[in-house]
Amino acid sequence: MAEILAVGEAMERALSLLEGGDVIAIPTETVYGLAGDATNGAAVARIFEAKGRPRFNPLIAHVADLAMANRMAAFDPLSTKLAEAFWPGPLTLVLPQRTENGIHPLVTAGLDTIALRMPRGFGGELIARLGRPLAAPSANSSGRISATTAEAVAADLGEKIKLVVDGGATPVGLESTIVKIADGKLRLLRPGGIAARDIEAVAGAKLMRGAAGIQAPGMLASHYAPDASMRLNAGKIASGEALLAFGRKRAEGWQDAVALRNLSEAGDLREAATNLFAYMQALDRSGAATIAVEPIPADGLGEAINDRLARAAAPRDQID
Ligand code: TXA
Ligand code: MG
Repeated sequence: MAEILAVGEAMERALSLLEGGDVIAIPTETVYGLAGDATNGAAVARIFEAKGRPRFNPLIAHVADLAMANRMAAFDPLSTKLAEAFWPGPLTLVLPQRTENGIHPLVTAGLDTIALRMPRGFGGELIARLGRPLAAPSANSSGRISATTAEAVAADLGEKIKLVVDGGATPVGLESTIVKIADGKLRLLRPGGIAARDIEAVAGAKLMRGAAGIQAPGMLASHYAPDASMRLNAGKIASGEALLAFGRKRAEGWQDAVALRNLSEAGDLREAATNLFAYMQALDRSGAATIAVEPIPADGLGEAINDRLARAAAPRDQID
């Protein structure tokens, strides 16, 4: 079973495991990450193995600072502007990869682009100390809900890794927003912890949306799957269902729900994002066959919340 160490006492142990090619779970501001040295092929292979993730799905390389990022990818003025505005923070940039950047090709699944992110807090310090980028997908078995606490990581992956670094509940609670920049144009590959409109405001341009070839392969339809089935935009609760609520006004029949969690009583989308995965897990543990979800507005962070809910509700035949 994995050892769990608080951020204040984990640094040396984390470094020595990473230097030895092990993978460990670390807190980031978005969700917990399953991290390994991005330049070490064996370490990266261990990430895929622990997650049970299809190999074709590329990983985000996490960097400590802009200098490290610039050694990995070619930044044009727009990419630099976004990095300066939002890093460290929940933004991932997909950029043209530099050759000979030391990143193992398993990280990028052989693509000529690379996804880069600079995390806040412990992760950033760890990468600076290591001196190399960390590849880190969310610390959950493939197809499962992303972990936002050290306990959730340990329950899912504790048998497969040696260390979980405990930084408490992650403040953002949703994965990073992924934006691809090519030829001076921006495309939203995954809505996430920074609202698209905040990125558009800094860029002074609209984000393109929708498919243009395969974008983020991790965006397979069914993802974040709880054991229960999910019923979205529920206006009425059937008996035996669990209820994921939002705001002050309850869906009809809410008194009959076998379990209830309210993402945000105040109707605050940021608070709802923070609670989303932990509450889905809690309702799943209630044993209800179906989790009914009240309507959630689609503006701001609501875009990412509705995206994750739609994936959790999708048919389970295609799992990442
Ligand atoms: O907040 C986050 O982003 C968390 C924390 C741990 O940093 N990480 C995370 O990683 O969500 P993961 O592996 O679960 O999701 C990364 C996504 C996948 O959908 C993957 O397909 C996409 O990034 N991706 C990675 N490299 C890409 C590339 N070169 N082009 C397009 N998509 C890429
Ligand atoms: Mg994930």
